[in-house]
Amino acid sequence: MNSKNILQMKPWYGIEEKNAIAEYLSEDVFITEYKKTKEFEEIIADYVGVKHCIVVNNGTISLTLASLACGISPGDEVIVPNYTMVATPNSVKMFGAKPIFVDVEEDTLCLDFNKAADAISSKTKAIILVSANGRFSKNINEFKNLCNNKNIFLIEDAAQSLGSYYSDFKHVGTAGIAGSFSFSSAKIISTGQGGAIVTNNDEINAKVRKLKDFGRATGGNDIHDTIGYNFKFTDLQAVLGIEQMKKLEFRKKLKKNIYKKYKNLLQGISQVTLYEADLTYNTPWFIDTLVEDRENLINYLKKNNIFTRPMYPPLNKQKAYNSPGNFKISNAVGDNGLWLPSYSQISDNEINKVCETISNFYNNEKK
Ligand SMILES: Cc1ncc(COP(=O)(O)O)c(C=O)c1O
Repeated sequence: MNSKNILQMKPWYGIEEKNAIAEYLSEDVFITEYKKTKEFEEIIADYVGVKHCIVVNNGTISLTLASLACGISPGDEVIVPNYTMVATPNSVKMFGAKPIFVDVEEDTLCLDFNKAADAISSKTKAIILVSANGRFSKNINEFKNLCNNKNIFLIEDAAQSLGSYYSDFKHVGTAGIAGSFSFSSAKIISTGQGGAIVTNNDEINAKVRKLKDFGRATGGNDIHDTIGYNFKFTDLQAVLGIEQMKKLEFRKKLKKNIYKKYKNLLQGISQVTLYEADLTYNTPWFIDTLVEDRENLINYLKKNNIFTRPMYPPLNKQKAYNSPGNFKISNAVGDNGLWLPSYSQISDNEINKVCETISNFYNNEKK
């Protein structure tokens, strides 16, 4: 890889992770789920302020397990935002439930409350809120009331939101019956792959633990009173995760500084609109923008060794779903949304270069 390249994202491990893995391997051979996994779960539960955390192999399966533990079944409808990673709808599609796409708020890109309320039918069993880039729906309290009144589950896909809070300073992902996080490579902390379900509900905790471990109540035996599968974590990942969690507060500061720096440098470029972030609560995971002439800008940046990524296309227009509907906001993101280089370790000089190159594109190249 050319060292001059400014990538859109990259994970970040240091000597601490390397040493911790070497040390663990020299002292123990049980590198599948064991004591380090338990320790990592306790750290996450404590950090987000819930009773239970269950870690699994990724942040898609964590959503699937949360839904299954709520009793969502084939044929049930689950409301999801039309702007999110495809994992959100796929997590319920996988077992035959039907994702129902609803458009998002223009400023937060999170599920629009009124549109979600209108989409509820007699088959609706859950709403999955996605905290896009750590932001939350403006009507989060109304969502809670709506779900209570209609007797449907509120599940949160907080894959992008570790380190972000609601306005009452409760951690994002803890408002509903269960929340889900991802530790894939692009996230603020990573274990390579990995996901977590967080909940205060003892029954959901017990069900998820069984579902992820072949349907048995405890490990190390072959007694199965329910059907379950193997969605387990490993202690090697947990060792990585424990070290990464020690760096989370530092990385939150970096992410907020990156946002401030971009905001400052981009404000003079009228063709680029940065999504607002309230840094009191929100740790922006990626720098998300709407840009004019996106494809030419992407190519120009690439020629200058700068790599970006178009934001998620509207889900209803993905070939995999291809479902009708009028989704103005998510369509606009699909046409113009662009993630700029956003990794935690990006330097000030690199951010300067990205913004100067964007400015050159609009001021010189396009004239
Ligand atoms: C909003 C959202 N949901 C779910 C996922 C899936 O997580 P994983 O890649 O760990 O399966 C992601 C991953 O990027 C995501 O951004």
